[in-house]
Amino acid sequence: MKVSEIGYGAWGLGRREWIGADDKESTRALHRAIDLGVNFLDTALAYGEGHSETLIGRVLKERREEVLVATKVPPRNRRWPAPKGVPVAQTYPGDHIVDCCEKSLRHLGRERIDLLQLHTWQDDFLDQDGWKDALAGLKRSGKARFVGVSVNDHDPDSAMRAVGSGLFDTFQIIYNIFDQSPDDKFLPACLERGFGVIARVPFDEGSLTGAITPETEFPDGDFRNHYFGGDRKRQVWDRVLRLRKLLEPEARSLPELALRFCLASDAVSTVIPGMRKVANVDANTSVSDGRRLTPQLKKTLRGHAWERDFYS
Ligand SMILES: NC(=O)c1ccc[n+]([C@@H]2O[C@H](COP(=O)([O-])OP(=O)(O)OC[C@H]3O[C@@H](n4cnc5c(N)ncnc54)[C@H](OP(=O)(O)O)[C@@H]3O)[C@@H](O)[C@H]2O)c1
Repeated sequence: MKVSEIGYGAWGLGRREWIGADDKESTRALHRAIDLGVNFLDTALAYGEGHSETLIGRVLKERREEVLVATKVPPRNRRWPAPKGVPVAQTYPGDHIVDCCEKSLRHLGRERIDLLQLHTWQDDFLDQDGWKDALAGLKRSGKARFVGVSVNDHDPDSAMRAVGSGLFDTFQIIYNIFDQSPDDKFLPACLERGFGVIARVPFDEGSLTGAITPETEFPDGDFRNHYFGGDRKRQVWDRVLRLRKLLEPEARSLPELALRFCLASDAVSTVIPGMRKVANVDANTSVSDGRRLTPQLKKTLRGHAWERDFYS
């Protein structure tokens, strides 16, 4: 597959009940992204229990362009991230994978999914059977063109054996200015073996856009009340102020710097910012201009890595 380097993170499209995603606005944003050359959309069956997929299906019916869709099979036990030591029978038994793929095909209104990803992962799964035959069968039947893994948050080591196994075509991983851990072993291994890499959460859920200040409030029920809970907004803000000093001439804004950071890695095939607004689509797609960060700025950004897990 030849994918646009700016892809579309469609998680937010599914979450209308608590972060107020507006379907009309999301639809406009999807159309705008395709108008501007985005040809890779990342969604999941679990995003709004099919709502994100359904919205994408509706939009794609109105388009003539070839747009590639990646979706994900949720773990049967619905536990994110995948805990260690839980057997495949509770996460990805073969019949569950096939059922979920069928549901996603119906939501998307398609006969084939371009990339079917397992939504969580632990390398222990490699030693157990069931899921491998199911994925191979879906590939053979043409229902899934490629298969991949979405790696647990901030945990590239949990999928290093999966990279070595050769059973997957792509890996989706958190990679941003704060979490640069994939640079150590994970991305070099993917690059060496020629696997596709989807860099997710490029804005650290918004902090790397500069929009989260110590005063920012989130609606009730929004997961960011937890993600940016306690004094985390202050911690983020202090880091962001330091990053701001690096703007110009290579990036005019923090979102641009954040995306250029991801694209500076030769291993990254596409970066998938979450976007629901046309203005964000315009800003993010404009970064795909062929320019790359200088090695000096890349080196400076290394000093801004920040190891922590706000999800837990
Ligand atoms: N386990 C998994 O497999 C997994 C987990 C998390 C995410 N993902 C995938 O990765 C994608 C990206 O992650 P994410 O959406 O959670 O986080 P993200 O991309 O780090 O941040 C998204 C946030 O940034 C805002 N934004 C986007 N462009 C902006 C711009 N130019 N200026 C200012 N703000 C901007 C968005 O606002 P608006 O929404 O208001 O436009 C949204 O609030 C998801 O959509 C999903 O496809 C996968």
